Amino acid sequence: MRIFSGIQPTGRKHLGNYIGAISQYVAGQDRGDGVYCIVDLHAITVEFDPAELRERTYDTAAILLAAGLDPRRCILFRQSDVFEHTELAWLLSSVTSYGDLQRMHQFKEKSGAQRKLVSAGLFFYPVLMAADVLAYRANEVPVGDDQRQHVELMRDVALRFNAYFGEHLVVPEARIPAVGARIMDLQNPETKMSTTGASEEGTLYVLDEPALIERKLKRAVTDSGEGIHRSPQKPGITNLIDILAAVRGVEPEAIERDFAQLRYGDLKAALAAEVTAYLAPTRERYAQLRPDVAGLQATLADGAQRARAIAAGTLADVRDAMGVGPPR
Ligand code: AMP
Ligand code: TRP
Repeated sequence: MRIFSGIQPTGRKHLGNYIGAISQYVAGQDRGDGVYCIVDLHAITVEFDPAELRERTYDTAAILLAAGLDPRRCILFRQSDVFEHTELAWLLSSVTSYGDLQRMHQFKEKSGAQRKLVSAGLFFYPVLMAADVLAYRANEVPVGDDQRQHVELMRDVALRFNAYFGEHLVVPEARIPAVGARIMDLQNPETKMSTTGASEEGTLYVLDEPALIERKLKRAVTDSGEGIHRSPQKPGITNLIDILAAVRGVEPEAIERDFAQLRYGDLKAALAAEVTAYLAPTRERYAQLRPDVAGLQATLADGAQRARAIAAGTLADVRDAMGVGPPR
């Protein structure tokens, strides 16, 4: 079974990314062959700083390795190192519905937030994302809840390709965690935790110092009334319960039971201790790994070579099936 996922290059990975995605990548190494990609070509679809792009790619590579990705057990690479992704994106554009792209929530949100330019690349983003996955004929795509629609689209693209040109592509499934697929901002629990948009105080970064994590958790907004149980009327407490459940690897009901007789302050104290302990090993290993840029570069280069060996095979089949280029 092949697992594929992509992640944007930034050093500001937060607890939502960690619980929703990164921890699933790490677990995926034991369940199948994992292919993980830092999507620098997706990062250029919104305003970006060329001098920063490579640095942020190394930041993300170091976070992923620190979190437990092991290059001997998975493939970790930079998207732009494998040219097959961009070529496949163009080829797949012929089986992508323009109307479907217009319906993408992420495009609507991100395009609304642009001040300078809404690029054509931002609109085309989901096609490149489909190519990322389909190039590896991946079965499973571990992502958070916000990527559900993008995975639906790539499934439609694969199905349409297979219907038009023959069964060459695998139709992938999203793997969205049962708990923690949508971690909310600690200050605005109606908004998802995110690198952009939500509040700085409400976002727990993987690389935050323990004292800062503790402070942000203690100041997390709770709801009026008492009782530690989940409910749509209590988005703040619901989010804190979900976070603790994800960190402990238990069902949210177990947290509700453990804290039934306790107060909000007790829940926050447990969170401060356990979230800190949960993230600490990654932050510490990051500090060791990040300075070794040559080492990170070598890991990504090796990953790219192994990734290309797979993607090139798919591209040869796709080109041939579509009648593009010379006959094989
Ligand atoms: P990004 O950093 O935008 O590339 O996101 C990386 C992964 O984190 C994707 O699979 C997202 O679905 C996931 N993710 C982003 N925000 C959250 C969140 N608030 N809760 C859970 N997962 C998230
Ligand atoms: N769009 C994803 C995000 O913002 C990142 C991504 C790019 C991705 N290519 C992918 C995720 C392929 C899964 C599979 O989080």
